[in-house]
Amino acid sequence: MTVKKAVIPAAGLGTRFLPVTKSMPKEMLPIIDVPVIHYVVKEALASGIDDIIIITGRSKRAIEDYFDDAPELEMHLAKNPKNKHLLAMVQEISSLCDIHYIRQKEPLGLGDAVLRAEKHICDEPFAVLLGDDIIKNDTPCTRQLIDTYNRYRCSVLAVEEVSDAMVSSYGIIKGKPLEDALYLLEDIVEKPTIEDAPSRMGAIGRYVFTPEIFDCLHHTNRGVGGEIQLTDAIRLLNARQNIYAYEFSGRRYDTGDRMGYLEAIIDMALEQDDLRGELLEYMRGIVGRLE
Ligand code: UTP
Repeated sequence: MTVKKAVIPAAGLGTRFLPVTKSMPKEMLPIIDVPVIHYVVKEALASGIDDIIIITGRSKRAIEDYFDDAPELEMHLAKNPKNKHLLAMVQEISSLCDIHYIRQKEPLGLGDAVLRAEKHICDEPFAVLLGDDIIKNDTPCTRQLIDTYNRYRCSVLAVEEVSDAMVSSYGIIKGKPLEDALYLLEDIVEKPTIEDAPSRMGAIGRYVFTPEIFDCLHHTNRGVGGEIQLTDAIRLLNARQNIYAYEFSGRRYDTGDRMGYLEAIIDMALEQDDLRGELLEYMRGIVGRLE
C-alpha cells in the first residue's frame, strides 16, 4: 500500500510571530501574495497525495476559508472580463483537492496534533508535512520520502544538517549511514544541548509514518516543554521497527522563524520576473547606503 494521505499540523500558537498570530494563523502568513500553507498543500499534491487532513485550532478559520469556495468574490470578479485570470486563480485554489479539517482542542504539542488524525488515517502509511515549512525542489521532499518508504516499507524522516546554534531547536538523530543520503535511525533526541546532541542532523518538517506511530503516540507522555513530542513517539516506534532518515534534496524555509520567513519572501520575489529587477535595484541601493 502506498502513501495517499497526508496530515498537515497547523494548530500551533505561533508565539514567535506574536502579535500577528494573535488573530491570524502563522500558516497563513503571505509569501508576497500566497500563504505558506498553500505551498505545503501543493507539495503534498505534487507528491501523489490525494487526501489531506489539516489539524487546526482556535483562530485558524482563515485556513478553511482560504481553501473553500468564495461565491461573493467569484461573482464580483466574474463581472469584469479583465479579472478572468484572477477568477481562474481563485477557483483553482478551492478545487485543488478534498481537504478535511480536524480540531486540536488544545495545542498540546506536535505529537498530539498528529494523533488527532488517527481515525481518518486508519491502518495506512501516511505523510506529515508541517504547515510552516516550505521546501523547494523539482522532486518534492515528500515524494522523496515516499519513494524511500516504497523501497523499505518503513517510516522515513527528512533530515538536514543544522548549525550548532540551531541544534537545540530540533529533534537530532543518531543514524547509521547506509548509502548516499540514507541512514538507519539509531536514536533521536528532542532539542538537545550541543554537548548532548548525537549529531548535527535535525529532523525537519516532513515525515512518512507506518500506522503503528499512533499506538506509540498513545503511549507518549508529555516531554520537553510539557508537550506531547512527536520525537518521543518516534523513539518508541524505533524500538519496534526500523526507521530511516533521509537527507532530502531541496531548499527549506522555516517560515515559523522570522529570519526563515524573510529569506523565503526575498528568494521567491527574486524568482518573479515582475519583481526581480526592481528588488535587485532596491537591494543594491541598500548595500550602497551601508558601505
Ligand atoms: P512549532 O513548534 O513550530 O509551532 O510546530 P508553534 O508552537 O506554533 O510555534 P512557536 O514556537 O510558538 O512560534 C510546528 C508545526 O506543528 C504545528 C504548528 O502549527 C506548526 O505548523 N503544531 C504545533 C500543532 O499543530 N499543534 C501543536 O500543539 C503544536
